[in-house]
Amino acid sequence: MVNVIGLGYIGLPTALMLASHGIEVVGTDYNKELVDTLKAGEITFDEKGLEKVFFQAIDAGIEFSESYMSTDTYIIAVPTPYDKNTKKVNACYVIDAIKSVLEVCSKGAVIIIESTISPSTVDKYVRPVIEERGYVIGSDIYLSHAPERIIPGNMVYELKHNSRTIGVDDKIIGEKVKKLYSSFCEGEIVVTDIRTAEMTKVVENTFRDINIAYANELAKICRSDNMDVYEIIRIANMHPRVNILSPGPGVGGHCISVDPWFLVGDYPGLANIILAARKINDGMPDFVLDRINAIMKENDISDVSKVGLYGLTYKENVDDMRESPTIQMLTSMERHLANGLIKVYDPYIKRDIIKNQYHNFDEFIDDIDMIVIMVAHDELKENMCKIEGKVILDTRNVCQLEGVYRL
Ligand SMILES: NC(=O)c1ccc[n+]([C@@H]2O[C@H](COP(=O)([O-])OP(=O)(O)OC[C@H]3O[C@@H](n4cnc5c(N)ncnc54)[C@H](O)[C@@H]3O)[C@@H](O)[C@H]2O)c1
Repeated sequence: MVNVIGLGYIGLPTALMLASHGIEVVGTDYNKELVDTLKAGEITFDEKGLEKVFFQAIDAGIEFSESYMSTDTYIIAVPTPYDKNTKKVNACYVIDAIKSVLEVCSKGAVIIIESTISPSTVDKYVRPVIEERGYVIGSDIYLSHAPERIIPGNMVYELKHNSRTIGVDDKIIGEKVKKLYSSFCEGEIVVTDIRTAEMTKVVENTFRDINIAYANELAKICRSDNMDVYEIIRIANMHPRVNILSPGPGVGGHCISVDPWFLVGDYPGLANIILAARKINDGMPDFVLDRINAIMKENDISDVSKVGLYGLTYKENVDDMRESPTIQMLTSMERHLANGLIKVYDPYIKRDIIKNQYHNFDEFIDDIDMIVIMVAHDELKENMCKIEGKVILDTRNVCQLEGVYRL
């Protein structure tokens, strides 16, 4: 039996995939409300195709619990934020989960850490906790790091088709862990050592952050000298070895806006491009704010409450708001100018989280003169005609209407 610890955006789909592919699974989370929701037969977040897998897993006998199970295989998928001061990974959730596992696991258990961790996290934080309790790693307990690569919005497909990395101390355990993931994963599964697996995952997300930062920096340069960044990128990308990404309002989520900091924190003085990229991407919400102010002036809009932000999540068609550019921008606004006046709407955020939040698209549109497209949810793409006539700032380059302002 596999006990999956942490039933959030990563742990839940992983638990469901395992269970729906013939593995006995108990999913554990210390959030009682979340566990009760799952037990009541309700899925806890919106994700394409997840509900189907949820019911397949329930039919296959998956269980949900607040307690840790006594078994021989654990998958840990708890948060790994970064420490805002040191920029290093904050491994406290992983450590707490490991401590709880050690209280119940059987001798010879394999603990697989799926959470993203910086290189040497296992050596510096995890091994000591296990050894302090008198366990011998390699006979009493086996460790593995199997980082997750899936993207919200396409998780079910990617769980099945992405290739994976399994880091282990011991090749035999590597094969055992590989067999477990092969129950649902059709992609190539590479077995390597733990530090390589740790570094590989962080490097992947950092690569994305740097590439996004390049596009964002180009947007700023082009704006400063009145050039069309989108046309320039379109033409540049015709070069056979150039593939510049699209600029946007910033980077959010629990991965790309977080993981590069681990390298900045662990390798000060060496992670220079990485730090610059983080700063550029974190500066984008303020850049959007400047664009809003300039466009308001140009259009004689003096009342911030006539401006509406479309989208609170960090990407389209998901309900994850963590570190989202809109949230970053609202925080910045609270500090500087608008004092909670600006209007906000997101079809995926059903509960009230900020002032002036709308839950109906038409009402939101009726109450504003200017719309800022922060997230390109399908709902908006399908209803572009409804924003015709408004002043539009499109930070995602999805609106083809006449007179649209862009980054
Ligand atoms: N969200 C993503 O797109 C994504 C993609 C790849 C990798 N990751 C990584 O996966 C890990 C998990 O991220 P997430 O987005 O699923 O986080 P999440 O916040 O959605 O879920 C984590 C869950 O763990 C639970 N939890 C925390 N500590 C616990 C403990 N000690 N015992 C039991 N339950 C506990 C929380 O209640 C929460 O439900 C992170 O390291 C993240 O970087 C995330």
